[in-house]
Parts: sequence; structure tokens; C-alpha cells
Amino acid sequence: MRLYLGADHAGYQLKETLKAYLLDEGHDVVDVGAVSEDSVDYPHFAARVGRAVARGDGERGILVCGTGVGMAISANKVRGVRAANVTTAEFARLARAHNNANVVTLAGRYTSADDAKEIVDAFLGTEFEGARHSRRIDAIQQLEDEER
Ligand code: RB5
Repeated sequence: MRLYLGADHAGYQLKETLKAYLLDEGHDVVDVGAVSEDSVDYPHFAARVGRAVARGDGERGILVCGTGVGMAISANKVRGVRAANVTTAEFARLARAHNNANVVTLAGRYTSADDAKEIVDAFLGTEFEGARHSRRIDAIQQLEDEER
């Protein structure tokens, strides 16, 4: 799968860990930065990943900051992005199955490498269930259109 991956300084270490893991799993990974633990502003990285996913350049996006919250707020400003801030594999599974999330955001300061790998596996390995959930995703899109 072609994936876009981004982080700020607080998510840098976990991003690097996930990048190695995902490459090892055979994914095509585009790393948009950050490139170190020097302080940077997370919205810029959320924009790069969110826009790439919304354009269809990548199938899914993964963003890491300290809590994942700032990344989720920022990525969700991009039309077509459904970013979910997730702390368990079960929430990642549900974010895909029910919400058709195309971006997952992680808490670099609070999520272990092993938990993050499980979360990402669930996020990448779960299909959207459609059916009644499609109606709700359509309603999200309508809301987005109304707010233009
Ligand atoms: C950076 O200190 C921190 O605020 C950021 O990584 C993130 O947690 C914001 O939501």
C-alpha cells in the first residue's frame, strides 16, 4: 500500500520506528518529515499528508505528534480527509470499519512502539464495512460541502 507518513518533533521517534516497520512489511512509504527532534509545527506535516491522501497520491496517511490531537484537528481541515486519533488497535479497526478513516493519528509521547505497530496493522488491515455507515460518511461529506 502507498502510505504517507508525517510527524512533528514529538512524534519523530515513533515515526521512524513505524517507517522501518512498514517498509519491512513491503509498503511504499512516503515520509514528509519532520527529519529530526528539532521543534516544528505539526499543522504543516498534517497538511502534506492530508492533501496527498485527499488527492489520491497515497491510499492512507499516518501522522504522529505528542498526543495525536493536533495532527487530527489539522488533517481534518483538508477536504476529504477523515482522520482518527487512535490509542488502541480496536479503535483503529472501528475507525476503518465504521468511519472509513483514511488518516490515523498517533500519540508519540504516550503510545509504545509495539502498540503503535498493532494500531497501524489494524488501520491498514481493516476494510470499510459500508452499508449503514456509508450514509453517515455521505452526511460528513455533505457537512463539508455546506461549510465551504
Ligand atoms: C508539541 O509539544 C505538542 O503540542 C504536539 O506534538 C501535539 O501533541 C499537539 O497536539
